[in-house]
Amino acid sequence: MVAASQTTGEGWSSRTAFILAAVGAAVGLGNIWRFPTLAGESGGGAFVIVYIACVFLLGLPLVLSEIFIGRAGQTDAVGSIRRVATQSKASPGWSIFGGIGALAAFLILSFYSVVAGWVLYYAGVLGADFVQALLAGDPFRGALAGESQAQIQQRLDDMFANVGLLLVVHLFFMGLTLFIVARGVHAGIEKAATILMPIFFALLVGLVIYGAIEGDMGEAMTFLFTPDWSKLTPAVMNSALGQALFSLSLGVAGLITYGSYIKSDGGLGPTSAMIAMADTSVALLAGLMIFPIVFSVGLDPASGPTLVFQSLPFAFQTMPGGALIGFLFFMLILVAAVTSSISLLEVPTAWGIGERGWSRTKSAAIFGGGAFVFGIFSLLSFNLWSDVRILGFWDIFAETNIFDTIDGFTGKIMLPVGALLTSLFVGWKADRNLVRTTTGLSPAMFGLWRFLIAWLCPLAVTVILVTGLFPAILGS
Ligand code: PFF
Repeated sequence: MVAASQTTGEGWSSRTAFILAAVGAAVGLGNIWRFPTLAGESGGGAFVIVYIACVFLLGLPLVLSEIFIGRAGQTDAVGSIRRVATQSKASPGWSIFGGIGALAAFLILSFYSVVAGWVLYYAGVLGADFVQALLAGDPFRGALAGESQAQIQQRLDDMFANVGLLLVVHLFFMGLTLFIVARGVHAGIEKAATILMPIFFALLVGLVIYGAIEGDMGEAMTFLFTPDWSKLTPAVMNSALGQALFSLSLGVAGLITYGSYIKSDGGLGPTSAMIAMADTSVALLAGLMIFPIVFSVGLDPASGPTLVFQSLPFAFQTMPGGALIGFLFFMLILVAAVTSSISLLEVPTAWGIGERGWSRTKSAAIFGGGAFVFGIFSLLSFNLWSDVRILGFWDIFAETNIFDTIDGFTGKIMLPVGALLTSLFVGWKADRNLVRTTTGLSPAMFGLWRFLIAWLCPLAVTVILVTGLFPAILGS
């Protein structure tokens, strides 16, 4: 039986509101921090092309499938899958992947908030620096005037060593996420997305234009769009596939949950395409914002996760208006992170409401509070517990700290498993008429979608899963 849930009462006020919220969920640290980092480390163009292929061939059909389950189910992820399964005469046991998704969302939220906390700190540092520039009557000076490159780079290490500071910013960010989710779908999530997403796009476009004027756009374009096929190793393909899932928020039942707040039938094909296109465009624009700046000051595009925190502040120092731009840059990432973290918290929160009958406030507080506490393990990976290896017995995690282990476990295992089960369930088990009427796909599009979801996705995702778990197969 499908639990009578309070979630059924809540809904988006319009399709646009849903699209903004879903794009807000998709666009996040994954686009602005992880994508440029991976593209930089994997040699640019070849990675980018594989990533785009993954988004449209695998990601888009999965986006549509998750939204379909939510729209048809009208309650939390577990309850929605159970309802679609029952209506399709399939085993209600399929709902297990809703539970795996909710657990993955909780785990991702725990470390996502830690990284968002760093962003918050940098936004604060550069904000204060900009205020100083204003007070000094020089609003267009570069950022962090008077600091040497070594001092700027040292700032990140100092931040990692300061456990109290990390706890405060993590707590603040999680508190903000919890506050928005507790207010509900309409007054919280939708309102945040409709206010923040336009601000986000305005900032993004402004910063890309700035990069084009002040930076080296030509070199950035060459780097991002000229494929060097010799760099295309199986490991690069593997990480491009994983990044496509992460960036589109797939495999954690996030779009099932958001889809359950849609009230009207049909039009899900174009809606899904808009979400996938918006997310990909933002990743590419983020690349076109960051790499011109990186190249213009001769920084290394492959510097990894610290690219955004160590390299860019240095670049902002040498560029005109850098104090203001640096501050806006970190605000942009912060806005993107908030609209994603609320979707992460919403998945388990909806589960608590739908399956346990908890009030929204109680459910959000339990999972938000829990993710804060659990996140402390990740936070300590950068200082006190940097040597702790929680899954050290497993060769792929033998060398990774707690943060990277949870990131790797969710990204390499839980998301692909979630995506695999979603594709098998929707491709093979869900009633086809229910899919057709709910999604409103034309017969031709339905045929194409069915091929991708029933055949290509399971195959390709199995490949990611196996190669991710047994890297020896790839010879790496
Ligand atoms: N898509 C988000 C990003 O790219 O930052 C991360 C994410 C958000 C994953 C929400 C999963 C999710 F449910």
